[in-house]
Amino acid sequence: MMSPAHIPVLTEEVIQALAVQPGGRYIDCTLGGGGHAAAILEHISPGGQLLGIDADPEAIRSASQRLSKYVNSVLLINDNFVNLKSICYKNDFVPVHGILFDLGLSSLQLNDNERGFSFQHKAPLDMRFSPDQEITASDIVNDYPEEELARLIWTYGEETAARRIARNIVQERPINNTLELARIVERGVGKRQRKIHPATKTFQAVRIAVNKELDHFELALKQAIDLLGYQGRLVVISYHSLEDRIVKQFMQKESTNCICPPEVPICTCGHTASLRQINKRIIAPSPEEIKRNPRSRSARLRAAEHIIGQEEHYSIMEELRSAAEIRPNAHVWKRPALLKKLRQTYAVLSIVN
Ligand SMILES: C[S@@+](CC[C@H](N)C(=O)[O-])C[C@H]1O[C@@H](n2cnc3c(N)ncnc32)[C@H](O)[C@@H]1O
Repeated sequence: MMSPAHIPVLTEEVIQALAVQPGGRYIDCTLGGGGHAAAILEHISPGGQLLGIDADPEAIRSASQRLSKYVNSVLLINDNFVNLKSICYKNDFVPVHGILFDLGLSSLQLNDNERGFSFQHKAPLDMRFSPDQEITASDIVNDYPEEELARLIWTYGEETAARRIARNIVQERPINNTLELARIVERGVGKRQRKIHPATKTFQAVRIAVNKELDHFELALKQAIDLLGYQGRLVVISYHSLEDRIVKQFMQKESTNCICPPEVPICTCGHTASLRQINKRIIAPSPEEIKRNPRSRSARLRAAEHIIGQEEHYSIMEELRSAAEIRPNAHVWKRPALLKKLRQTYAVLSIVN
């Protein structure tokens, strides 16, 4: 039986937050079923380009079918977004107008009975986004010391019963499949009433650990800024507080000029802002969207715009003005190659000076 397609979350809001421009260049770092990618392509075509990345080869397969009518505008890469910068440079995809992260896992992965992401189906304890990864959920659940397991379930699941769950897991080893793990966790959580299934937090924790999700995301965010052209947009949809905290702190820090501790009287850090936050408050799905797609309920969107120093800004504007005199219809958004050249020129100039 075919599993239901992944329904993209906050699609209209993503298009707005990315300020999608006809003819623009965008990166979807979490291609999944290609839902957001299709919406972006609809707005940038003809002439636009999209680079789609996913660690999961199944996602690439399914998205390439969905996006087949845009075959000349799409480049799909099966890789981890922790390699974002090198993927873009290798494919000459710099600078770009916008970068999207829609974190977590897709319905395609959750509903796949072989992948082990869900506590609803019996499946091997796998949970890897890519079959090339070495560590599986089974390695963590069956081999990690109790202390380490408890720490991981507490840190990545924010599970208050982490110690008891870890103790039960260690006592019941070997654990052979997802349903066995879910039953052991349920016993550890006890009879407390919760809005969510008792195994939700532990499964989230193990999945984050298997895929090193938070570490990879933090590293990719840092790389993203360098790939954005002038006024390029960075948009992130997160699904739990650990992810959202990373985005919030990152965007706050990168929107601030000095990040010295408050007790330091004169700035010593030399940090300059590279982002401007677009929405100070998070954007969440409407009640109608949640009704249509209950999996969207925990989604939180944050967006920021790439800014550059005033001096660099004036020089680029000057260059663009003279370019516009030669080609009156030239527009900054339609000239990624010019921007790239300009950025290289400034890099050289700043070394010389
Ligand atoms: C929520 S889904 C994206 C759904 C997609 N926006 C759509 O509209 O169909 C998240 C996707 O990100 C991928 N992913 C998660 N972490 C990744 C990473 N570090 N590198 C590459 N892909 C990743 C997952 O494999 C999954 O397919």
